Amino acid sequence: MVILGIETSCDETAAAVVKDGKEVFSNVVMSSLKEHKKFGGIIPELASRRQLEWIQTVVKRALKVADLTLDDIDAVAVTSRPGLIGSLLVGISFSRALSFSLNKPLINVDHIKAHLYANFLRQSSAEEYPQLPVVGLVVSGGHTSLYHIKNFDQFKLLGQTRDDAVGESFDKVARILDLGYPGGPAIDRLAKGVQPTGQIRFKCADLPKTYDFSFSGIKTAVLYYARDHKTQKDFDVAAVVQAFQQIVVSVLVKKSIYACQELKTKSLVVGGGVAANSLLRKQLMHEAKLQGIKVFFPSMSLCMDNAAMIAGLGYWSREKQEAKL
Ligand code: KG4
Ligand code: ZN
Repeated sequence: MVILGIETSCDETAAAVVKDGKEVFSNVVMSSLKEHKKFGGIIPELASRRQLEWIQTVVKRALKVADLTLDDIDAVAVTSRPGLIGSLLVGISFSRALSFSLNKPLINVDHIKAHLYANFLRQSSAEEYPQLPVVGLVVSGGHTSLYHIKNFDQFKLLGQTRDDAVGESFDKVARILDLGYPGGPAIDRLAKGVQPTGQIRFKCADLPKTYDFSFSGIKTAVLYYARDHKTQKDFDVAAVVQAFQQIVVSVLVKKSIYACQELKTKSLVVGGGVAANSLLRKQLMHEAKLQGIKVFFPSMSLCMDNAAMIAGLGYWSREKQEAKL
């Protein structure tokens, strides 16, 4: 079954063609991120206007790269939630109209679960693929959650952030330190190569024995630290972001390993924009190896918002609907 996926939940306008929930024939992404940078965050109205302008182009390109036409598509899968309402509406309206005109099924897909599903897509660089059941860690700009996945139509939510998402905390800390938007990649780059001296120590709530997270306190701690030290001659931004990143990553690693141990699950999949973070990748791999757990990250292009993950997960929802008919 060949599915056309469409994703417009934030600043990306994306389309992809995926066969049988695995094989990525094409994965096209256009982003309006550059236009939002000067505002220090995503401007919803601007994002949805660009999506309206670009959606036809990305769909045409995705079909062209896949060397297919609309007639070859068996179904359309679209991100139905969560996201910016105006942006979601562009993708949903376009997909509805397309599915109606082609007389092909429309499949609604949850963006967060799709981020985890990205690990199950065929990636040329991967040597091994995760086997169900798995624990899934979602780390994105809007969400931080842990899932237990037994089947692709059965994602059990174990816990989530009680306040800020982890990506949001990277973005807010970067804003406090004037590092620009989005904050995650800037902090990742700046912290690389900084030797931890232990001179700056932040605390991050780790809510023991729960699967929940909390990242609003650490952001405030950085804010106060910057307020009190910014004017000092030896104020070292790189050392501050290194200390911030270190503690945040350690909480994510600890919680994920705890979930795997409690659920006796030997595989962990990670998804969402923050899965691109180099320290998270390194430390999670290291700790998981020590505990005999296999950890999987999507390739960089599948970490960020994309439509291949939507078409991929959509394949499984569609099968369920067919079985019901
Ligand atoms: O999943 P995503 O592309 O969009 C949402 O669905 O939210 O995630 C975007 C988030 C932003 O907060 C961005 O700062 C963060 O992912 N991010 C990173 C890195 N690359 C992107 N955070 C830490 N390190 C990175 N390398
Ligand atoms: Zn996302």
